[in-house]
Amino acid sequence: MNAARLHLLLHVFLSAGVLVHAFDPFGIFCKYFTEECCDPEMIVVNAKGLQVDVQSKLFGQHIASRIILKAVTGFINNNNPKKPLVLSLHGPTGTGKSFYSQLIADNIYKEGMHSNFVHVFTSQLHFPYLTHVDTYKSQLQQWIKGNVTNCGRSMFIFDEMDKMQRGLIDSIKPYLDYNQKLDGVSYRKAIFIFISNDGGEEITQTALDFWKAGRDREELELRGLETVLYESVFNNKKSCLWDSDWIKDELVDFFVPFLPLEYRHVVQCVLAEMKARGVPPNQNVAERVAKDLVYYPKTERVFSSKGCKTISNKWDYYG
Ligand SMILES: *[C@@H]1O[C@H](CO)[C@@H](O)[C@H](O)[C@H]1NC(C)=O
Repeated sequence: MNAARLHLLLHVFLSAGVLVHAFDPFGIFCKYFTEECCDPEMIVVNAKGLQVDVQSKLFGQHIASRIILKAVTGFINNNNPKKPLVLSLHGPTGTGKSFYSQLIADNIYKEGMHSNFVHVFTSQLHFPYLTHVDTYKSQLQQWIKGNVTNCGRSMFIFDEMDKMQRGLIDSIKPYLDYNQKLDGVSYRKAIFIFISNDGGEEITQTALDFWKAGRDREELELRGLETVLYESVFNNKKSCLWDSDWIKDELVDFFVPFLPLEYRHVVQCVLAEMKARGVPPNQNVAERVAKDLVYYPKTERVFSSKGCKTISNKWDYYG
């Protein structure tokens, strides 16, 4: 066979692939020939796995843990949701906000964060220039529309929301609402996750007050913290959610607060890191690593200033 014929054959084969992919009512091509399908039978939540992950990998976040188990499982199991699931994660650095989205992706999609149906946008990486906001807007809207058209069960994660431009955020709004369809596309099965440090200081202050009063942090409840979050989000003029209609229109299903981490949680993080690296967990080493971190406020030294963020690097040093 000469090169031209080979080329032609290849071309025919590839076009057939694309065609079959587009008109594949029984998902046969998808199931056997591509690595991942948007198949309702395959995109289900692994509720048990999620529970195990939350218990063994997410430390010190009793409220966030409860929300993830209830909201995500309920949403995915619902075949006819009224609106997309919208979570807004708030809290100081290193408390597990990005990790939280990863846990969700890992337990919904076969390929986890590498899934073709998971899309992560980071303000400073994807939308760095102020002057380009109009381009970004239409690009982002096209991406969301295109991807949800391909797969209704898509997940969009927006990191660094606190650094995102207002116009850009408002351009996402229509997709989060109770619309039946928007230009013929339904967004109701999608998941949107927004991550920001907004409200972190207020959450920390509340947790600190609790600690000072000698109360158990597990007694902190979502309702109290949600109020704290609303207020900080509303009152903070720099905050990008401020004065937009998000809260008024109840587009966000849950404001998920992440509490600052204490020494004992950092120890748990180190032990988990050891386990993940196949090293036998060692309490002494874990405590040494945890002690090496910086804690605040200056006088009380209750919370790790970077949460569990630098654990991995520290461990390289001790390990
Ligand atoms: C889906 O989103 C990605 C960004 O994550 C984008 O590059 C791609 O073009 C989008 N796909 C469609 C079909 O719009």
